[in-house]
Amino acid sequence: MPLVGPQQLRALLEGASPPYLLDVRTAEERKLAALPGDHHVPLHALAGASSGLPRDRPIVVYDHVGFQAREAVGYLQQRGFPFSAALEGGLDEFARVADPRVPRYDLDARGVDLVVRQLPRVESGCLAYFVGDPNAKVGVFIDPGHEVEPYLRFLRADDWRLSAIVETHTHADHLAGHAALHAATDAPIFLSHRSPAQYPHRRLTSGEALSFGREEVRVIETPGHTQDHLTLRVRDKIFTGDTLLLGSCGRTDLPGGSPDLLWESLTERLLRLPDATEVYPAHYGPHHALADRYVSSLGFEKATNEALLQPSREAFARYMTEGWPPKPGDFERIVAANLEG
Ligand SMILES: [Fe+2]
Repeated sequence: MPLVGPQQLRALLEGASPPYLLDVRTAEERKLAALPGDHHVPLHALAGASSGLPRDRPIVVYDHVGFQAREAVGYLQQRGFPFSAALEGGLDEFARVADPRVPRYDLDARGVDLVVRQLPRVESGCLAYFVGDPNAKVGVFIDPGHEVEPYLRFLRADDWRLSAIVETHTHADHLAGHAALHAATDAPIFLSHRSPAQYPHRRLTSGEALSFGREEVRVIETPGHTQDHLTLRVRDKIFTGDTLLLGSCGRTDLPGGSPDLLWESLTERLLRLPDATEVYPAHYGPHHALADRYVSSLGFEKATNEALLQPSREAFARYMTEGWPPKPGDFERIVAANLEG
């Protein structure tokens, strides 16, 4: 992934032929700060707007901290913009180390009063999430991994109270951390009402909401990867588990999987949400034959995700049966352990 550091960008901007600067954040974030002389195409609209971008000069893409810019550059590189690069660390880093005139803003204070922490596990390519209301100091964990000590340190360090632990589905590729996190915090565990789990938990169905402070997690049932799969929506963000991954979707060849149900979950539920909806998946990286990308938008996925580009239910069913990596070797044992608690 071509990257430009903040100091390097400042030198380029002061040079004789400055690059074309492209901001891929939302209009809302842009109000807080932007680089002078830039151009704006939100990530979710990039696929439709890329023909208007210059091919004869370098493009430097930026966002707030760098995730969406990397995604945009990955896309531009494939579309014949070889001189595109992402601003490393985003506007946040640029303001801190290269140009103090650019106003800084905190990820947690983008005028939205919501904390979203993405907690990657590099060794397994899994993503857990903490979503919290910073005023009430209360939040929920989504898909915690079995090593919970870092999560507990995070909660203690900022004095967070945990009101719920939610699993998007019964995982077959890694040991889940709900039991250990519940033991340490006493927060209740929430699962789909379709989950066959043996341990004490509360059951969720579509349309229900879990509140934390002044916020809430809304439940959308999205079976397909597993029967008990939930997608969780908080404001304009969806935590999609393995229903929708970046560039692809979760496999349907493990027990309980169904390409038909997944097609319906994607097309009849998730894709009806607005294009600017932010997508936070449960997996990333080479462990799962995915790109090293962390966050996307629904509009961008609609335009580029190979699962979503399948033209029909039948084509999708074929796509779901061809070319997938081998199943996790010990998935039966992992599923059994995750259902026991
Ligand atoms: Fe999964």
